[in-house]
Amino acid sequence: MEILRYVLLVFHLFGFAAILGGVFYQLRGKDPVVGGYVLTSAVVQLVTGAGLIAVRHALDLPVSDPKMALKLGLDVLIAAVAVAGVRDRRAWPFFTVASLTAAEVVVAVAWT
Ligand code: HEM
Repeated sequence: MEILRYVLLVFHLFGFAAILGGVFYQLRGKDPVVGGYVLTSAVVQLVTGAGLIAVRHALDLPVSDPKMALKLGLDVLIAAVAVAGVRDRRAWPFFTVASLTAAEVVVAVAWT
């Protein structure tokens, strides 16, 4: 079970890296836009996050429900903005996804 937690956490961090990596890459050029990979990564975050919650419960590790509710809400917002950004290829969805993802990481590491 502990191995499963590590595997899920590694994929969770891959999903996070995919979103922010894409953001930083696009900041090099002009006209940054949201790519379809953001939506895929938001779904990866949702699936691995749900798996992590289940495994932590199984291992009797603490899980903060308000923190998880906030993380879920931010992730759903990221997915919704990504859908809007794929349809309407303007800059605002790109910067909104970047800001929401940064906020998500702050919540992940600072809310103990
Ligand atoms: C863009 C979306 C997300 C990002 C960038 C993100 C980022 C992170 C990061 C960086 C960590 C490691 C923090 C640490 O161990 O100190 C983490 C852990 C975790 N995240 Fe997320 N997360 C996202 C979405 C979600 C969602 C939607 C859920 C579930 C509702 C979730 C549940 C968890 C859990 C349970 C852990 C703890 C893992 C453990 O140590 O066992 N995350 N997340």
